[in-house]
Amino acid sequence: MKIPQNIWHPVLLSRELKRKPLKFQRFGSDFVFWRDKHGSPQMFPDRCPHLGASLSQGSVSNGNLVCPFHGFEFSASGDCQHIPANGTLGKIPAGMNCVRFECIESAGFIWAWVGEKPSTGAPAYFSEIADGFQIADMAIDARVNYSRAIENQLDAAHLPFVHKSTIGSGGKSFVDGPYIESVHNGLNSWVFNRVDSNEPHQPISELQKLSHQRPPSLQLRYPAQWLLNISDHLKNFIAFVPVNENTTRFYLRTCHKVKLPIASYLYGLLLQLMNKIILQQDLNVISHVKPCFSLDSSSDRFIGADRAIVIYRRWLASNAADFNPDSTTRQMTKIAAVSADGSSSDPLAFQPPATGRQDGN
Ligand code: FES
Ligand SMILES: [Fe+2]
Repeated sequence: MKIPQNIWHPVLLSRELKRKPLKFQRFGSDFVFWRDKHGSPQMFPDRCPHLGASLSQGSVSNGNLVCPFHGFEFSASGDCQHIPANGTLGKIPAGMNCVRFECIESAGFIWAWVGEKPSTGAPAYFSEIADGFQIADMAIDARVNYSRAIENQLDAAHLPFVHKSTIGSGGKSFVDGPYIESVHNGLNSWVFNRVDSNEPHQPISELQKLSHQRPPSLQLRYPAQWLLNISDHLKNFIAFVPVNENTTRFYLRTCHKVKLPIASYLYGLLLQLMNKIILQQDLNVISHVKPCFSLDSSSDRFIGADRAIVIYRRWLASNAADFNPDSTTRQMTKIAAVSADGSSSDPLAFQPPATGRQDGN
């Protein structure tokens, strides 16, 4: 599947990864996530470079990930440190390593760098909710491609139809703007919806003036972080994580300023319930949109209200490429097989001795 390259992707909530190695599907591939001796998150393809066992069935010992099949040990860098069958003095064959995806842990998330270029900068998170908010997180997996999920959250025209019974009540189907400002790592959008009164659209210059008097209605930071500014005291954050071509994991984070512990907890629960209902309304429609991946469409036709979608789709088109779990900044060297003394680099050099007839007769 195609995903944005050379950028930090949110992949997990920090709290989802404890001591035990865990398997999660991301970008259409299975990965093992684990914590090294410093507690730092690590992410490898969930496939042992020896004979392909699932490393997530293994364990962590002395800060190394241990394969459940033959006990090979891999350090946080992905290098094989020990092959029990070869003994402590045995050689480690070239290429006996895991591909490591560089990870960072910040803002309650684990982020992975995806791309051939070396990692740069920090994951894009919102300073607006970095401090002073009570936050509650919730994860929902849904049958929709991440591109359609993100575009839906930038869509200014769907509210009175998809959310008629909730946030879209009132029949405000007429869309001025939205007014959009692109920033280096995303976009800010000011939404102006009203009841149709047979008047023309307001000029963008007018919307610009109005926009500069208040925070954006919503913000997107690439590749997949979204913030809805409901008020100074209430904001909703979503990280859209591609699980596979047809599935996205939504990490919904409610952010409020109710401090009294029980009231804060109950308010958080109420907000989560509302968000779940609203998201379900979106999913009822967007999980049936065709084609699944928005860049596969050559037939979508846009209107003015789709400005933010168009900007995102352009960005996606110039940054998305096929994801290859074996190709990162730390290229895997050609796999070498184990010879009798553990030193050969020819994959077929070691053949088991023939025992009896081999022709099947
Ligand atoms: S398959 Fe992992 S050690 Fe053999
Ligand atoms: Fe919606």
